Amino acid sequence: MERLVSPHNLEEDFTGDISLRPLRLAEYIGQSKVRDNIAIFIQAARGRKEPLDHVLLSGPPGLGKTTLATIIANELGTSLRKTSGPAIERPGDLAAILTNLEPGEVMFIDEIHRLNRTVEEILYPALEDFAIDIVIGKGPSARTLRLDLPPFTLIGATTRPGLLTSPLRDRFGIMFRLDFYNEEELAAIVTRAAAILGIMVEAEGAIEIARRSRGTPRIANRLLKRVRDYATVKAGGVITAGVAAAALGQFEVDERGLDNLDRTILEVIITKFGGGPVGLDTLAAAVSEEPDTLLDVYEPYLLKIGFIQRTPRGRVVTSHGYQHLGCQPPAGSPGNSLFDLSEE
Ligand SMILES: Nc1ncnc2c1ncn2[C@@H]1O[C@H](COP(=O)(O)OP(=O)(O)OP(=O)(O)O)[C@@H](O)[C@H]1O
Ligand SMILES: [Mg+2]
Repeated sequence: MERLVSPHNLEEDFTGDISLRPLRLAEYIGQSKVRDNIAIFIQAARGRKEPLDHVLLSGPPGLGKTTLATIIANELGTSLRKTSGPAIERPGDLAAILTNLEPGEVMFIDEIHRLNRTVEEILYPALEDFAIDIVIGKGPSARTLRLDLPPFTLIGATTRPGLLTSPLRDRFGIMFRLDFYNEEELAAIVTRAAAILGIMVEAEGAIEIARRSRGTPRIANRLLKRVRDYATVKAGGVITAGVAAAALGQFEVDERGLDNLDRTILEVIITKFGGGPVGLDTLAAAVSEEPDTLLDVYEPYLLKIGFIQRTPRGRVVTSHGYQHLGCQPPAGSPGNSLFDLSEE
């Protein structure tokens, strides 16, 4: 079964979710620094009648990278051509997309860190000079032909900016890192979604859902839909704080938004590895998950709320993590000031 608190796009999110996506910058809640800056860059580019500089959006899944890309295209008054790193297999595939762009259009490459190297090399001159170099023929008689492209803007999205090669990274003039949302922002997102979907939610109910949404709008919207189901069947339809808490308790999403898998990770570090430090691969094997999944999906939120820490020798459960599970933290655990291991 898929996790209710997965930050990834699940099958069920698709029904009607399009309508939950804000379409203009003014409707995009939170990320105020990013919003203010992108508004300036868009206005300046429009004023000069030039394409916006290439934009790299990074951050954990579900925080609104694709949404922001769509909004940028809308605000530029142009359209968005969507593709993704793994979908572009051969250089020719990318060349075909690029040569078909209309002037000023925005091309969106999701998971851009997964572009393969030969494809990526096509992008360098495309981004820098709006041109691509095509090799014609083979062997000694081969020659390259330069093909001009219309001016365009590339928006790349990635959950792992560290995996981008530096030549690619260097060609983005604008880079934004999206961060987890705070409770008020998520409550505003829940309230907005509830209004669109015709769900009755009290302010305190929205806050309760926000609190358990792991800082992630996609999860907030999903929890709202599941809590609505509960409210409809068990509580007369209105989502109060009590109804939200009861529903999410029923679905095993705890007060901090952790589910059984998160709690298992903390428990395993505590019971099998004495609270840590434990290396990523060892921990992944112990909880039967891929190291990459731990790194991309579970860890960012546990780090963010300070339940685990990364140390040079591995992951450590903090005193907050112990307390959340109702365990007594040992004297040496980070957060227990005396022997703080927290330095990287
Ligand atoms: N700032 C926001 N305000 C309101 N709703 C938002 C915001 N950001 C995201 N959402 C909602 O959350 C959902 C997930 O956002 P989005 O698909 O843009 O995330 P993402 O960062 O692209 O995720 P992934 O890494 O999985 O591609 C959207 O469908 C939208 O409904
Ligand atoms: Mg996306």
